[in-house]
Amino acid sequence: MADLRVGVVGLGGNGRAFVRGYALSELAELVAVCDFDPERTAAAAELAAEEGAGPARYHDLAEMLERADLDVLSVHTPDHLHATPFVMGLEAGCHVLVEKPMGNTIEDLERMTEAARNSDRKTLVGHILRFNPFFAEVRRRIAAGELGEIFYLEADYFHNLLRQADPVRVNPHIGNINWYLEHEKVIVGGGAHQFDLLRWYADSHCIEVCGYGNAIAFPEMKHHDCMCAVFKMASGAVAKVGAAYGVVGPRPELCNLEVYGTRGTVRGGMLITGDEHEPDVEDLRTEYSGHPFEPEIEHFLRCIIDDSEPLIDAFAGANSAAPTILAAESVAAGGRPMEVPYFAR
Ligand SMILES: NC(=O)c1ccc[n+]([C@@H]2O[C@H](COP(=O)([O-])OP(=O)(O)OC[C@H]3O[C@@H](n4cnc5c(N)ncnc54)[C@H](O)[C@@H]3O)[C@@H](O)[C@H]2O)c1
Repeated sequence: MADLRVGVVGLGGNGRAFVRGYALSELAELVAVCDFDPERTAAAAELAAEEGAGPARYHDLAEMLERADLDVLSVHTPDHLHATPFVMGLEAGCHVLVEKPMGNTIEDLERMTEAARNSDRKTLVGHILRFNPFFAEVRRRIAAGELGEIFYLEADYFHNLLRQADPVRVNPHIGNINWYLEHEKVIVGGGAHQFDLLRWYADSHCIEVCGYGNAIAFPEMKHHDCMCAVFKMASGAVAKVGAAYGVVGPRPELCNLEVYGTRGTVRGGMLITGDEHEPDVEDLRTEYSGHPFEPEIEHFLRCIIDDSEPLIDAFAGANSAAPTILAAESVAAGGRPMEVPYFAR
């Protein structure tokens, strides 16, 4: 089987994790890495070399796309800089994986879905939690009807990310800013993980959202560092996501996921069904912890080789990002409800 020729753009911690994943994959040949920052490009190339790969180093994405003869472009730039590399990759004829959140504004999502519509290439948005065995098992149980009709769901992104204020994160190559402090919206960058899960479980899309927030715990962030939003789904279900970056202590177990259906409940990692007084309780938790980047990479490469549908393409990614973007707008507008557009193929 021919290896897919892969290039990675954006070589911070996240991009480097993917560099390693592609270098290890038997389905890929990591042929190119790109970052504005030469130190990061060198570090990524060294990491790849440890796994037996020898990618060419680039500092300009257009040049990499022109010269590296890529099948796949993997985009790991900051949230507010996903759209341009994604569109450039598709226009250059590449299959494109882009990190979550797919975009940071509705305009980004419109550009990106338009490019996907005009392309026959595959896309995948990096909603990593779908590749975690526990969260995937919850989806299997819902799809098998074990919870009945879903009417309420909630999950949280509660994280201590105060370290992101470190001056070392100021990047001279992207306007001399710390993008986390300037552009990050906690319910988009963080909460999109959880909202994507809830949307997957509800098997629906959001039609309206409203949210509240504050800037108490991490006031260095330009946008509110604590946001909580309620999402009205087309199915009739209601979902709630909390997101905060100034949280004391470790992240809550399993993102505080709770799913309520007419026949069953998922709470605390347990599937609860049956009689109210003598319920059947099944532990769905697994030993797995961490970020399943390698299964995500294998899934995308396998979809390209087999010509099958990726689990979360650009349209699904846009329908997971848009409600969170509008949740942040609702927070900024003091809780005003926002209508949410649907991105059709
Ligand atoms: N799925 C997950 O669990 C997960 C975890 C962490 C981060 N992320 C996402 O990964 C992305 C990157 O996060 P990070 O913390 O690694 O960011 P980072 O700021 O550390 O790294 C981003 C890099 O992209 C480079 N860059 C930006 N635009 C570029 C361009 N056009 N050409 C070349 N280089 C460019 C910057 O110079 C920088 O080195 C973000 O979208 C973040 O939300 C996802």
